[in-house]
Amino acid sequence: MKYYITTPIFYPNASPHIGTAYTTVAADAFARYHRLKGHDVYFLTGTDENAQKIVRTTQEKGMDPKDYVDEVVEAFKALWEQLDITHDDFIRTTEERHHVVVKDIFNKLYEKGDIYKSEYEGWYCTPCETFWAENKLEDGKCPNQDCHRDVELLKEESYFFKMSKYQDQLLQYIKDNPDFIQPVSRRNEMIKFIEGGLEDLCVSRTTFQWGIQVPFDPKHVVYVWLDALINYISALGYPDGELYKRYWPADIHLMGKDIVRFHAVIWPIVLMALDIPLPKLVYGHGWYLSKEGGKISKSRGNVQDSFELIRRYGSDAIRYFLLREMQVGTDGAYSEDSLVERLNSDLANDLGNFVSRSLAMIVKYRDGIIPVATQLTAIEEEIQALGQEVILKIEECLEAHDPAGALEHLWRLVSRMNKYVDETAPWQLAKDESQGERLNTVLHTFGEAIRILGILCSPFMPKTTKKIFAQLGVGEEALNWEEAKKWDVLGEGIKVQRGEPLFPRVDLSQFEVEEDKAEEKASAKKKSAEKASSDSEASLAPIKEEITIDDFAKIDLRVAKVLQAEKVPKTDKLLKLEIEVGGKTRTIVSGIAQHYAPEDLIGKQVVIVANLKPAKLRGILSEGMILAASHGETLEVLTLDKEISTGAQVT
Ligand code: MSP
Repeated sequence: MKYYITTPIFYPNASPHIGTAYTTVAADAFARYHRLKGHDVYFLTGTDENAQKIVRTTQEKGMDPKDYVDEVVEAFKALWEQLDITHDDFIRTTEERHHVVVKDIFNKLYEKGDIYKSEYEGWYCTPCETFWAENKLEDGKCPNQDCHRDVELLKEESYFFKMSKYQDQLLQYIKDNPDFIQPVSRRNEMIKFIEGGLEDLCVSRTTFQWGIQVPFDPKHVVYVWLDALINYISALGYPDGELYKRYWPADIHLMGKDIVRFHAVIWPIVLMALDIPLPKLVYGHGWYLSKEGGKISKSRGNVQDSFELIRRYGSDAIRYFLLREMQVGTDGAYSEDSLVERLNSDLANDLGNFVSRSLAMIVKYRDGIIPVATQLTAIEEEIQALGQEVILKIEECLEAHDPAGALEHLWRLVSRMNKYVDETAPWQLAKDESQGERLNTVLHTFGEAIRILGILCSPFMPKTTKKIFAQLGVGEEALNWEEAKKWDVLGEGIKVQRGEPLFPRVDLSQFEVEEDKAEEKASAKKKSAEKASSDSEASLAPIKEEITIDDFAKIDLRVAKVLQAEKVPKTDKLLKLEIEVGGKTRTIVSGIAQHYAPEDLIGKQVVIVANLKPAKLRGILSEGMILAASHGETLEVLTLDKEISTGAQVT
């Protein structure tokens, strides 16, 4: 069985970010899964380089477009490598092999009478590379969700593609093939869109020269979307390449919801006009949104450097987070805090912990040799049945393109195994000689479960699978999907190796400290110069912009009493305080350790921000903030002249 999967080709107008990485990571998980199932997989990704926005960006930078894209494309390739993406090909639309096919197709469509020359008069959104009729604009701006940027009026000679001619044929096709566009919400959107009437599409531009020339009219370049969609077959060597014969039609074009329309309307019509079979599935996933709610995108300035995230947390944790957090059919929320939370809970606490404690027990009680199971009980039978069920569910979810669902099921097995460790308490069994056989069975079950989890993790976290196998003492040959359905695969005498923890727990504040240090270093000179002149007279921070009384009323300031105070280990700046507010105690971590000894604060009445969202600092949940005044090198915590009940409001 062949399986041809594609990602969209990405605009290399800016480096890739965590939002763009989602499609590629998800496609990689599907490709890996199908390879494990023994399918003949072909996985294509690439870059969409002939866009007007590339011309704009490079004009602004005063750079040659080709030099510029060459550089950004390297960043894409490097990111995919670091994320262990296993694409078989990376197509760039500036490559000759692509140009040849686009020209050939443009010619064919023209000769068939499906492309004709006319004049375009209407609007264009360069960020979306989309033509808009006047009546589609919203407040005179691009109507795309999450764009709403300025559009430009175009009036230029253009070639048009007869989309309208194929409207009924496409609609019929979509109705006859209910699985062609997924999820169903996207399918319904598309049906509505097509029923609204298709206009002929402008497919060439004359106001810039960057792109693929129309073969019979070189003053025109081919419209970037027509050019880009063709990548899915140009990369296979259409019309008579071996790969084309073997892999087309695509089994799935995977993409974000914003570009389903191009793939479910323009692309099928091009293929219909050429008498080429249509892809089997166009699948539109949701977006990763930032904390504030907008789509993560470079133009919104809310992206984080993906290379830095990988350096901090490792590529598997990023892959896991992306795949786990976006529920099928909806958008996902990205923040570094939630990434760290997932890493610490699901990966470090659940998976990592099970693997390390169970291997440790095999080492401790059986010198690292996985024993043979001789006393299976109802619990082991129940676990084996759960294992079977979980694998089938994972298969179902992956076939329905729902990696989050697949991981949710996988974690049912992880949780069950952690519970099994506690239930069977091998440390108790080890104390009782008569329980030797039972202990063997439990330790054997650990080994089998680790093996199965290693296999099941591999589409999602390939590095983790390698680490698990190395620690379990089994080789690459153990990576066989069908074998995950069996228990009792590990033969006698396998020796486990305890290794580094799979996922060390992470504390976000450690990176804040790093960032602080980097910042400190960068401004060291400036600071020391400032210090010299302002030791006695430090300059005051400027007064911030005005707020209303309602803004101020949102901040709940209260009087609190410090009950306990201690330094947070391994930090210079942080104190951990136990405080009492209106009869309740809470913990606050405060950066005042360089100004106060813990004992100086105990018993003092201070003022706190009581409704500040709790945040973890060095692994400690800080539930509020202490007010302090600072000027230059000095810092004074706000205290009260006379005692007042704690919990009293400060207004
Ligand atoms: N070049 C076109 C695609 C042409 S395919 C023939 C394009 N490129 S893009 O770089 O803007 O986007 C590529 C993909 O990244 C799209 O599927 C888009 O939905 C996805 N994403 C971009 N930001 C995203 C998020 N914040 N979250 C999830 N996916 C996101 O469109």
